[in-house]
Amino acid sequence: MKKRTSILSLALLALTPLTAFSQKADDSHMEWWRDARYGMFIHWGLYSIPGGEWKGEDYGKEAGGASAEWLMNSAKIPGKEYRETLAPQFNPTEFDAEKWVSTAKAAGMKYIVITSKHHDGFCLFDTDATDYNVMDATPFKRDIIKELADECAKQDMKFGVYYSQFKDWYHRGQGKRHTGTMSNSEYLELVKKNLDELLTNYGDMAVLWFDVGGSDLKEADEQGARVRELQPNTVICSRLYSRKVPQKDQKYADFESLPDRTIASKRMEGDNETCMTMRHNWGYDQDDDNWKSTKDILERMVLSSARGVNFLLNVAPTPEGTFSPEEVERLKETGAWMEVNGDSIYGTTYSPVDFDFPWGAMTQKDKKVYLHVMKWNPESIEFNGLMGAPSKAYFLADGEQKELEVDYNAGDHVTKVKVPAEAPDAMDTVIVLEYDEVKADPKGKGEYLWSKSTGVKHDRN
Ligand code: GLC
Repeated sequence: MKKRTSILSLALLALTPLTAFSQKADDSHMEWWRDARYGMFIHWGLYSIPGGEWKGEDYGKEAGGASAEWLMNSAKIPGKEYRETLAPQFNPTEFDAEKWVSTAKAAGMKYIVITSKHHDGFCLFDTDATDYNVMDATPFKRDIIKELADECAKQDMKFGVYYSQFKDWYHRGQGKRHTGTMSNSEYLELVKKNLDELLTNYGDMAVLWFDVGGSDLKEADEQGARVRELQPNTVICSRLYSRKVPQKDQKYADFESLPDRTIASKRMEGDNETCMTMRHNWGYDQDDDNWKSTKDILERMVLSSARGVNFLLNVAPTPEGTFSPEEVERLKETGAWMEVNGDSIYGTTYSPVDFDFPWGAMTQKDKKVYLHVMKWNPESIEFNGLMGAPSKAYFLADGEQKELEVDYNAGDHVTKVKVPAEAPDAMDTVIVLEYDEVKADPKGKGEYLWSKSTGVKHDRN
């Protein structure tokens, strides 16, 4: 009986595609992405100039409205007026691709995704499909996407673009939510041209981060197929499709993009990513002071890793083309932490146990388990759920790997690691446990404690 069940499950396994939705024969193009774990999201465009305000009114998210990059929609600005007011002012002379990419690198980030066209329709790249772009409509006349793509290639950073394919308030007309001037077929032609340009003129496109997909499967599939055709290795975001489309029908999506700013409530199978803001808004906002601390940010990244989710952290450059000092500070601090503790994030998989602990959560790589201690307990860090004693325990930050004393109880599988009274790292002290074999206790019980305590709002848009 037992045998039959396992043959049956093997047969079922063989019928199941490697990832839930990849259309590629293999998923080797996902390897770098899985290892990367931490990336930079950049929201930058014409909306950065008004920074959430229009005619003295605040439309930014901190004022309860949509996020700052939604200004055109939330202040109901006609396309012509929006363009004529903002495009001539777009002259970010301090933009320096070298600086941006180095900053992301020093932060420990492994990929960059920038808005090549957001919902306001403005293209930050050179395109023949519309003159509403950085080269033709602004005094700046520099192809931002090109400069960044080239710089990323130089610095060995994966480069990708966000592209708003469905919502385009400037170009796309017809239908109740589309306020632009083009007919639907003209608009779809524009998208096709843009994708061709983005996937031919900028070298390797690591990620195509589509956003807010509509429910027309044919439209989405055609766009996905085009990406695959031009660059089979581009990693495609699930927001190519509406969330209403069942995952099994999201043919060209390589990873599931969780709703904005979401920390997964538990371990997730497959390839997942969460995108996170440093304050409320995605786009630059003049008066949004809701900064998350570096500890808040690290906590969210660590929990994401512990649940099998990549972490894409947003920066909102200023109209001049710089990261704000608050962003630079946070990026530096996460970078300093990653430099010492990166092994516990890069290339890891989710926690070997299906729950958290009062002190934090775990990640895993091969035969190593990393305890991310975000709430210190003087004396010892305790956990259940793993069978057997580790052969070695030490602080990841300790270059000498001085062994920590471990007490393991074979009866209840509770392991205690003796620690000093003071946390070596107030944000997250990582303890490495080396095992001969990492074996989860099937009877091990616990709860997910940390999503709740981070107070993260699970808001979409
Ligand atoms: C959304 C918003 C958008 C933002 C994005 C980031 O869906 O519409 O403004 O760019 O989320 O994840």
